[in-house]
Amino acid sequence: MSLLGTVVGALWAMLPAYVPNNAAVLFGGGRPLDGGRNLGERRILGDGKTWRGTVAGITTGVVLAGVLNAVRERASEAAGVALPSFPAPAAVALAAGAMLGDILASFLKRRTGRDRGAAFPGLDQLDFVVAALALAAVVVPDWTRETFTPGRLLVVTVVTPALHLLTNAGAYVLGLKDEPW
Ligand code: CTP
Ligand code: MG
Repeated sequence: MSLLGTVVGALWAMLPAYVPNNAAVLFGGGRPLDGGRNLGERRILGDGKTWRGTVAGITTGVVLAGVLNAVRERASEAAGVALPSFPAPAAVALAAGAMLGDILASFLKRRTGRDRGAAFPGLDQLDFVVAALALAAVVVPDWTRETFTPGRLLVVTVVTPALHLLTNAGAYVLGLKDEPW
């Protein structure tokens, strides 16, 4: 497998986990998941994790997986790589896992005294990848092992932080996000 093929396959396989965060930024707002409640001195999660954002994020990831399934054969031919398809449980696990990772990261941020919007380098960029892969590994272990080969995993680990920084900086410039991380 060529390097380009590995990169294309890795990004394709992760797309249903990549878009939920961006969809949450676009469609989020309204009632917070934690209902405004505190745990100790601080909010459980904070106003940055909302019902609307979470539902929109998961839905967008799952719908995107469906679109990728529909164009997979043509895309594989065009790219010259066998791109993976997403069975429904895999699509849901990737999208929901990504949102869950982001939520867990906010929980950790609040517990470590960071206010909403504060940066937590490393966690901010990889929380959703780790959680998406972990949930997929539990829900669809065979699919996850076949899809996320060691080469693709390496690409995901290296490329995701860069992609995340880029899209968030873009959302910030467009006025969609309050901070560039
Ligand atoms: N968002 C949402 N629901 C989610 C995740 C994100 O509504 N489950 C929206 C919120 O409007 C949030 C924005 O997307 O403000 C940016 O997301 P993120 O950077 O994760 O949240 P922050 O506001 O920075 O809060 P935190 O410090 O908890 O990450
Ligand atoms: Mg943030």
